[in-house]
Amino acid sequence: MEIKEALPEYAMDYVVHSERLLNSSETSEFIFSPRKAGEYRASQQDADRVATRWTKKLDELGWEKAWLVWDEENVVGHVLLRTMNLGAATHRAELQMGLEKHARAKGLGKELLKLAVDWAKNETNLEWIDLAVFDNNIPAMKIYNSFGFEETGRVNDMFRVSDVSLNNVSMSLNLKAR
Ligand SMILES: CC(C)(COP(=O)(O)OP(=O)(O)OC[C@H]1O[C@@H](n2cnc3c(N)ncnc32)[C@H](O)[C@@H]1OP(=O)(O)O)[C@@H](O)C(=O)NCCC(=O)NCCS
Repeated sequence: MEIKEALPEYAMDYVVHSERLLNSSETSEFIFSPRKAGEYRASQQDADRVATRWTKKLDELGWEKAWLVWDEENVVGHVLLRTMNLGAATHRAELQMGLEKHARAKGLGKELLKLAVDWAKNETNLEWIDLAVFDNNIPAMKIYNSFGFEETGRVNDMFRVSDVSLNNVSMSLNLKAR
C-alpha cells in the first residue's frame, strides 16, 4: 500500500472509497459513523465538489488537503484537512481520516495523522486542528491522544446505531503549543 497526495483527478476514486468505508461502519469492530450501510452513495456531484476543494490554494477560503492510501488501483484510506468557507476561521481545519477494513491495525493511521499534522505545522498558518470521534473507537482515541489532541466537549448518546449508543467527543490540537 502506498500513501500519495490527493489530486483533483482522484476525486471519484476517493468518493467511491468513502462509500465502501461508510458502508462498513455498522459491521466494524468499532462503529465510527452514524450512517447505516447503504445510506451514502458516491456520486459525480460529490466528486466534483471534492475536486473543487482540492484545487483551491491555501490563501483561498474552503481549501482542503488530502492524502490517499492506494492498494494497487483502489483508494483504501484517506486523511484530510478541511477548512471552512469563512474568513473568521482560516486558523482552523477539521481532520477526517479512515481506512477500509483490510488496511486497519497496520500502523497506517499513525502514519496518516503524522503526515497531516506535520504538513499543517510546516506548510500552513493553521493554529488548530479539530475533529470528532466516538469514544468507543479505541484505535482512533489512542492515536489522537498520543498526538496531543485534547477533549473540548462531548455529547453522550449522540447517535444510536444497531442498538449501540455512541458518545461523540470533540477534540482539538493546538499546533502552536510547545
Ligand atoms: C481509526 C483508524 C484510522 C486507526 O488507524 P489504524 O491504522 O487502524 O491504527 P494503528 O495501526 O495506527 O494503531 C493505532 C493504535 O491503536 C491500536 N489498535 C489498532 N487496532 C486495534 C484494535 N482492533 N483494538 C485495540 N487497539 C487497536 C494499535 O495497537 C495502536 O496502539 P499503540 O499506539 O498503543 O501501538 C482506523 O482503524 C480506521 O480508519 N478505522 C475506521 C474509520 C475510523 O474510525 N476513522 C476515525 C474516525 S474519528
